Amino acid sequence: MSETLLERPEDGIAVIRLNRPEARNALSAAVREELAQHFTALAADETVRCVVLTGGDKIFAAGADIKAMAEASPSEMMRRAGERSWKPLKEFPKPLIAAVNGWALGGGCELAMHADIIVAGEGAKFGQPEIRVGIMPGAGGTQRLPRAVGKFKAMKILLTGEPVTAAEAEAMGLVSEVVEDARTIERALEMARSIAALPPVAARKIKEAVLAGADAPLDAGLLLERQAFQLLFDTADQKEGMAAFVEKRKPAFRGE
Ligand code: CAA
Repeated sequence: MSETLLERPEDGIAVIRLNRPEARNALSAAVREELAQHFTALAADETVRCVVLTGGDKIFAAGADIKAMAEASPSEMMRRAGERSWKPLKEFPKPLIAAVNGWALGGGCELAMHADIIVAGEGAKFGQPEIRVGIMPGAGGTQRLPRAVGKFKAMKILLTGEPVTAAEAEAMGLVSEVVEDARTIERALEMARSIAALPPVAARKIKEAVLAGADAPLDAGLLLERQAFQLLFDTADQKEGMAAFVEKRKPAFRGE
């Protein structure tokens, strides 16, 4: 059985579901390789406007596969080059929504932090417990978490390994929205539906400006934004969006 499932529930939307419940969706090499393949294919597929990533209604992901690395040497870990399989997620150009129920731990929390929007069920828990197994985050946790929540909240999570609840995660800025557990995936799909109906070039440029600008000096980020903003005036969807506003009708975006 495949360790991830790719579904196309509606036009414009793809859902990637982690499917390794017996190991709490731990991110084995096979899971990460499949994720890389899905994200590479979906980036190139013009019919896909927005992607939802979920682990299902019980657990998001329990992190890297501890059993597969318990005996590894540093050179073995280097040869595995885990960063290769994360690259297509890191560079995924379209809106990505994580729908998180249950645990998002270690690499699972890092996986969620690759998303642009995180919808969490009220019973979800986020944590970076790597220190408790003698290591540290290796897929961006020490970098993306402080950027999301600030140094002092991040340090507490990283140094104690203690998880935080969905409500705590939302209060600190790690989660976009908390909903009832039974509504998590449906809510992510609702958001995906509204994003998929909007102009994809604008969505892509917004994501690019936010991510590339986040670590750039303000002037460089503002320049990036200005150029992307101006470029959008070359799209048919800009003409349609503004004409529809002026004519008091609903726009019909064509993705061009
Ligand atoms: N790796 C490998 N196997 C795992 C796993 C993991 N991260 N998490 C769970 N499993 C396996 C368990 O070993 C167990 O297998 P067996 O049935 O063969 O014994 C099975 O999944 C079920 O696990 P539990 O009985 O522990 O399930 P639970 O529901 O009681 O608890 C849990 C769930 C709280 C997530 C708990 O499994 C847990 O704490 N997992 C480890 C979390 C962790 O430490 N993650 C960090 C990993 S390191 C990392 O991610 C590095 C990085 O930055 C990339």
